[in-house]
Amino acid sequence: MSNDRKRALADAAGDKSLIEPLPVNLTVNDLTQSITVEPRMTLLDALRERLALTGTKKACDRGECGACTVHINGRRVLSCMTLAAMLEGKKIATIEGLEQNGILHELQSAFIEHDGFQCGFCTSGQIMSGVAMIEEAKAGWPSAATADVRRDFTLADLSRAEICERMSGNLCRCACYPNIVDAVVEAVARN
Ligand code: FES
Ligand code: FES
Repeated sequence: MSNDRKRALADAAGDKSLIEPLPVNLTVNDLTQSITVEPRMTLLDALRERLALTGTKKACDRGECGACTVHINGRRVLSCMTLAAMLEGKKIATIEGLEQNGILHELQSAFIEHDGFQCGFCTSGQIMSGVAMIEEAKAGWPSAATADVRRDFTLADLSRAEICERMSGNLCRCACYPNIVDAVVEAVARN
């Protein structure tokens, strides 16, 4: 349901608790900023509309495509499915925070080298998902594609099939999947 529709329903019902703005301190890319948000405002809308961080993209706005992927305390989450007002004290990371001192993250560089995009609309979500996914694999997390979950997973086990499974929440309507996997393979090789 669109935010306009939710607002209309809440207004019609006279339920002001859904629209009364709340103060919240959001820490995004190591910078804490105080803003007010409606309790129902998503992190995605807060990033884009309140903090001008438009690198995180809104595509489906319903948890289906992964374009809005960011990190909260190092874990990948869908920002369109997360309420901003719940995130006080959490560490939020967006695509804008990946580059450090003018140097791109290795996965960003690998996406460029391997042409991992066409229109680019899914790309920030793909990269944020890929960065966290590599950390999950490093930490030994298995996936639905892991043949033997009884032993610790290692980066050496991160096959193309594993990468496809672990990135399956990120859709690309330009169908750049082979190049995206190539980019992830390249970034893994640099670890
Ligand atoms: Fe959030 Fe599609 S915009 S999953
Ligand atoms: Fe266009 Fe992925 S590059 S949607």
